[in-house]
Amino acid sequence: VAQFAVFGHPISHSLSPTIHQAFARQFGIELEYRAVDVGPADFAAVVHRFFADGGRGANVTLPHKAAAFALAAQRSVTATRAGSANVLTPLAAGRLAAHNTDGDGLVRDLTERHDLDLRGHTALLLGAGGAAHGVAWNLLDAGVETLTIVNRSPAAADALADAIGDPARAHTRYWGDLADIGSYDLIVNATSAGVLGVALQLPPSLVGARALCYDLSYGPAASSFLSWAKTAGALYAVDGLGMLVETAADAFELWHGQRPDTESVYQSLRQQGT
Ligand code: ATR
Repeated sequence: VAQFAVFGHPISHSLSPTIHQAFARQFGIELEYRAVDVGPADFAAVVHRFFADGGRGANVTLPHKAAAFALAAQRSVTATRAGSANVLTPLAAGRLAAHNTDGDGLVRDLTERHDLDLRGHTALLLGAGGAAHGVAWNLLDAGVETLTIVNRSPAAADALADAIGDPARAHTRYWGDLADIGSYDLIVNATSAGVLGVALQLPPSLVGARALCYDLSYGPAASSFLSWAKTAGALYAVDGLGMLVETAADAFELWHGQRPDTESVYQSLRQQGT
């Protein structure tokens, strides 16, 4: 049976094994998909051993996405611009190829599942770490009019804006000025505050009249941002479960050459209370 795995730390609550098994059932494919908890010190060795033992594909999640990118011999365009990878695929002679499907997954969730036309929208990106790097280019490619990047430490926001290199559309503001920078049609929370159990203090004035607020995480990590968004009057407050299922579908297609149906899997995870 073909072996797949997701590597992260922590990893016990990962939905990736469930999602990939559900996709595999759609095609009658038999596979094993494990969740592997590995710390940063052992990540590279454990991943290389997994592939040396015949592993066919790996997903990579926090905190290893930059390390996954670093150890790959071949890197897709999306992984290169983000500087991080969430999918590893074996090449010949023990070499690995890195992909990043996060940004595509987010945009597909927004535009297809939530029917949002991003063209002409003003977007606010909170955070400038790995998660923000994984989605910023894709939001611009999807046609947002402007992307305002705000990060607690301004240097990281500036570095992301510089890397994008489109000053007319992508620019930064200071976190301390959030109350004075107006309102947005789309607000994406790409900070790790929720995962760390910290509530962001955000002014309601950020939320535009028909705004969609999106947290890249899901479950308890997203709840503080989403309840802020609802209180502030957002028309939609959405967690990142749909993005997770979409990014998994891209990995599945890379590995198996077949495109799974995501909506049925998304709905069943929702029904199970995710
Ligand atoms: P990830 O891969 O989840 O993006 P990361 O690369 O460590 O993780 O980035 C974490 C992001 O969340 C950063 O943008 C960080 O801001 P700083 O660069 O200022 O550290 C942001 N972040 C984490 N905790 C935060 C908090 N309490 N308030 C605001 N931003 C926070």
